[in-house]
Amino acid sequence: MNIIQVKDYAEMSKKAAELLIKKVKANPSINLGLATGGTPKGLYKELIHDHTQNGTSYQKVTTFNLDEYIGMKANNPNSYHYYMADALFNHIDIPAQHTHLPNGRAQNNEQECIRYDQLIDSLGGIDLQVLGIGQNGHIGFNEPGTPFHSPTHIVKLEESTRQANARYFNSIDEVPTHAITMGISSIMKSKEILLLVSGESKSEAMQKLLHGEISEDFPASILKNHPCVTIIADQKALSGILINS
Ligand code: PGA
Repeated sequence: MNIIQVKDYAEMSKKAAELLIKKVKANPSINLGLATGGTPKGLYKELIHDHTQNGTSYQKVTTFNLDEYIGMKANNPNSYHYYMADALFNHIDIPAQHTHLPNGRAQNNEQECIRYDQLIDSLGGIDLQVLGIGQNGHIGFNEPGTPFHSPTHIVKLEESTRQANARYFNSIDEVPTHAITMGISSIMKSKEILLLVSGESKSEAMQKLLHGEISEDFPASILKNHPCVTIIADQKALSGILINS
């Protein structure tokens, strides 16, 4: 894993945008894997700024998001469909039909999981997957204990994950209990992975990622087996951590 150390959240977002824009320019038909949450918001702002200022085009780009809450309507401001439209898609020139998220309101959840993985495969797989990391080491919504070979599946969210996301809702009771997430094997099939990590609340997870063993108890640890991972982490996320590079 290649680690890029940056000062703070703003620098992490700028660096991530730089890398991503370079990839889009080199391959205008790139398939991007995208994430939600607090971490990539700055990256998306930078992409919008660059699109507005420099005209980088996303007309041929295809995107696949990692996850969606089960049971939430796409027009609910807490849905990841809404988040992506609001944070990125509405502000760049990507055609709506090129943007894909798992459907959290499918008639048949099992079928939806299969459909999503097949869709990714049929469109050529993900070239670059953007990831965040949960305090418990989750990637996407793959919580500790998720088998590494898991395809896209339905998960019961851990209490700590619901607590972490409660800040976006009126109360913890409104945070959904289940989600549909790209599986760990689906994520690992991406040709390249860009993991963004910012803030003190992630330093324990970073310590485990960089110095712990590979274990299903800490889902992100599987990234050590991926041939092409870049981590952009800020000083707070890396505080007290020895970097062997
Ligand atoms: P965050 O979430 O970006 O809101 O910290 C990351 C994650 O849970 O994967």
